[in-house]
Amino acid sequence: MITTTELIASLLQDQRQSPAKITGNAFAPSNIALIKYWGKRDRQFNLPVTSSLSVALGDKGANTTISLAPGKHHQVLLNDTIISTDSNFYKRLASFLDAIKPDSKQFYRVMSTMNLPVAAGLASSACGFAALVTAFADLYAWNLPEPILSILCRMGSGSACRSLWQGFVEWHAGERDDGLDSFAEPLPYTMPNLAIGLCILTTAEKPISSTNAMNRTTQTSILYDVWPKQVMTDLAQMKQALATQDFALMGQVAERNALAMHATMLSANPAVCYFLPETVQVMHTIWQLRNEGMPIYFTEDAGPNIKILAQKQDIPAINKMIKNTEWISGVGN
Ligand code: PMV
Repeated sequence: MITTTELIASLLQDQRQSPAKITGNAFAPSNIALIKYWGKRDRQFNLPVTSSLSVALGDKGANTTISLAPGKHHQVLLNDTIISTDSNFYKRLASFLDAIKPDSKQFYRVMSTMNLPVAAGLASSACGFAALVTAFADLYAWNLPEPILSILCRMGSGSACRSLWQGFVEWHAGERDDGLDSFAEPLPYTMPNLAIGLCILTTAEKPISSTNAMNRTTQTSILYDVWPKQVMTDLAQMKQALATQDFALMGQVAERNALAMHATMLSANPAVCYFLPETVQVMHTIWQLRNEGMPIYFTEDAGPNIKILAQKQDIPAINKMIKNTEWISGVGN
């Protein structure tokens, strides 16, 4: 079996091996999955069991600068704070840098700023790894086709492969063992009226990482067998909703897909429950508003925060009922 380092080296074999400039810079938006990626068919390369579909969060994301570092280890700064070399976050980033760097003796200084809460289920690893890969490609002036960039991002964090574009994006699961057919691409749909509300209930670090929760679910959940089949149905219906700009259908499918994903987690052993009491409270408020006639839906990732899917004109009315929501409009353009 080929290693991650060998696979990456083969993808980069015709590219520059020495930096083309002093610093590489990039921005990558965060993305929220409307059809979720939940379960890996291969852990080494982050290959998913199913395809997934996301919407990017506009200017919410990661700005990253990378340069060569003197010394014998990588330096990582997140939001101006030096990350300890003992932390899991550092180790994950450092091993990815070691796999992608053209010169095995080289170390890097990575400075990243994120304008959304880190590790609270707001897809910060997605924009973080996508900005890292594109900043790296900028430093070396690599001229890589988008699918290859997406594959590199995926090897850092699965959902990062969808963070290279604005708008709606599909990540094709692929079938190959080496994952060369598992990458994302932008979709030609728009939904100009879509607004996403980040309802931030806590910024605390999540109790279990998405990777660990995913692996536990695939191994032990009594409901996991039905998940891939449901994703196929949901993905087809989501594309139909986007193609016809059918907001209500989009919301219905996104919400049921997210709840089905959480149902697989709740039936894992031991159960994975990202819901806080406040999460459930917000869900009930959303259902109440919907019963009263407002087209409002939600999705939720591996964390307790809710992402509200609504239409721009309803934002003032929603704000009266649900507090602490940061709205991002223009995401569906
Ligand atoms: O890319 P990861 O390992 O952070 O997993 C992301 C998992 C979900 O956010 C729950 C779903 C998704 O498709 O983004």
